[in-house]
Amino acid sequence: METLNAIFKRRSIRKYKECEVAQESIDTILKAGMQAPTARNLQPWHFIVINKKEILHELSIIHPHGKMLKEAAFAILVCGDKSIDETESYLIQDCSAATQNMLLVAYDIGIASVWLGVHPRKDRLNGIIDYFKLPYNIIPISLISFGISNEQKAGENRYNPERIKYNKW
Ligand SMILES: Cc1cc2nc3c(=O)[nH]c(=O)nc-3n(C[C@H](O)[C@H](O)[C@H](O)COP(=O)(O)O)c2cc1C
Repeated sequence: METLNAIFKRRSIRKYKECEVAQESIDTILKAGMQAPTARNLQPWHFIVINKKEILHELSIIHPHGKMLKEAAFAILVCGDKSIDETESYLIQDCSAATQNMLLVAYDIGIASVWLGVHPRKDRLNGIIDYFKLPYNIIPISLISFGISNEQKAGENRYNPERIKYNKW
């Protein structure tokens, strides 16, 4: 039931209260990310937790749609590791599954979030790679902003039967 509730009620939240989030909650979110399914179970990822205000502020400038990071309690940069998945075949999917797991579990424990796309936009990729001085094998895939919500948003019904086909196109 918690899963259904999180899937149907979670929304992107971009306004946060000025509150800290307990380390235990951050750990729960990270564990949820690492629990995601991955191709060949390679788990080809690294997670950079950003909980210093000055770095969040700098990232809010580097990311063209990341203004909310200024108010965030913390953020997580999800990175794919080309040296683990040498063919890079499913890095994006694996890191995206981890990202979605973290959004849902954060919602479940009362922490608001928004997924900020990084890969494959060149400007975002380059800005983040340069800022963190990421080694050549590390590709930033997504940045997630987290905090305690300071806005109300209802779940949206997006079910669209026109997009469903059974057994043929
Ligand atoms: C790959 C991806 C990239 C996104 N990039 C941004 C972004 O750069 N800035 C932002 O504010 N929201 C971003 N979002 C959040 C979407 O705008 C949001 O999920 C969408 O409008 C649906 O709203 P909801 O999350 O409230 O259901 C992104 C979402 C995804 C999945």
